[in-house]
Amino acid sequence: RLPNYVQIKEVAPRDGLQNEKKFISTADKVAWINMLSETGVSEIEYSSFVNPKWIPALKDAKEVGKQIKRNPDVMYSALVPNMKGLEFALEAGIDGANVFMSASESHNKKNINKSIADTYPVLDEVINEAKQEGKRVTGYVSTVFDCPYEGKIDPEDVIRVCEKLFASGVDDISLGDTIGSAVPTQVEQLLSPLLSRYPSEKLILHFHDTRGMAIANIMTSMHYGIHRFDSSVGGLGGCPYAPGAAGNVATNDVLYLLDGLGIETGMNEKRIQEASLFIQKKLGKLLPSRSLAYFANA
Ligand code: HMG
Ligand code: MG
Repeated sequence: RLPNYVQIKEVAPRDGLQNEKKFISTADKVAWINMLSETGVSEIEYSSFVNPKWIPALKDAKEVGKQIKRNPDVMYSALVPNMKGLEFALEAGIDGANVFMSASESHNKKNINKSIADTYPVLDEVINEAKQEGKRVTGYVSTVFDCPYEGKIDPEDVIRVCEKLFASGVDDISLGDTIGSAVPTQVEQLLSPLLSRYPSEKLILHFHDTRGMAIANIMTSMHYGIHRFDSSVGGLGGCPYAPGAAGNVATNDVLYLLDGLGIETGMNEKRIQEASLFIQKKLGKLLPSRSLAYFANA
C-alpha cells in the first residue's frame, strides 16, 4: 500500500551546489532559494556550515541564511558538522540542524576527517546544543548501501550508527545512498530491520541517481511505508568526497512520479521546473532531470 502523502526536503542549495565548480553568487543563491520557498515544499536545506576550505561553493552560508526571505510554511535547515558550524548556523538562522556521518569507516574519514568513534562525541555536543536551542535535528547517515572505498555495507553497521544517533537525541535520520548504487533489493534488506525498530516517520531516504535507480528505490521505499524523501531540483548534486557520485534524485522526476500515482505533496510542479531552469541557466549547463528536459523542450 502506497502512502497518501509524501514529504519532500529540497536539498539542492546544499547537496546540489556543494560539488559545483562554478561559484553561484550570494544574490543568485538567495533569489533561487526564494523561488524554491514558493513551490509548496515543506523544507529547504539552504546551505552548509562546514569548513569553507573543504566546500568553497558554500562559503557564503551565513550571508545566504541572513538574506533569504523566510516563508513561515517552510522549514529552513542546514548541514552542520561541529560546534563551530552550529554557532554560525544559529547566527544565520536555522529551524533545523542536519548533522552527518557515515556507516563506513573510510568514507567517514575522508568526508569529515575522523573515525566513526571519534565522530560521536562531536555530534553529541552539537545535537544537545541544537535541541537546547529548540531546533529540530536530523542525522544523515551516508553510505548506507555501498561505500566508494569499502564496497557493500552491512545493514548491521547502519543500524549501529542509527541507534547511536537516536540515543544522542536526533529527531529523525536520513539514510544516504551516497554514490547512487543501490537497487531495490538492497533497500528492502535495509528497511526491513530498520522499520522493525523505528516508526516510518523517523526515516527519510536520500537517493543519489548515479545509475538511474533512484525512482525504483523510492517506489520500493514507499511500499515499505516510507513517506519522506530528500531530492534536488534538476537532479543537481554529489559529494566531493565520494568519487563518481552524481546528483540527488531530481525533485522534478519525483513529483512527476508522485503526481501520476495520485500521492499528495502540496508542491507545484511548474514552479519546481522554473526554479530548475533558473539555476540551470546560472550554472551554464544542462541538469540531468529527464522531466526537466521534457518540460524545457515542450
Ligand atoms: P578538520 O580539519 O578535521 O577540523 O575538519 P578541525 O576541527 O581540525 O579544524 C581545522 C580548521 O577548520 C580550523 O581552522 C577550524 O577553525 C576550521 P584553522 O585553525 O586551521 O584556521 N573549521 C571550520 N571553519 C568553518 N566552519 C566550520 C569549521 N570546522 C572547523 N564548521 C570538518 C573537520 C568536519 C570541519 C571538515 O572535515 C569538513 O568541513 N568536512 C565537510 C565535508 C563535506 O561537507 N562533505 C559533503 C557533505 S556530506 C554529504 O554530501 C553526504 C550527504 O548528502 C548524505 C549522502 O548523500 O550520503 C549528507
Ligand atoms: Mg547527498
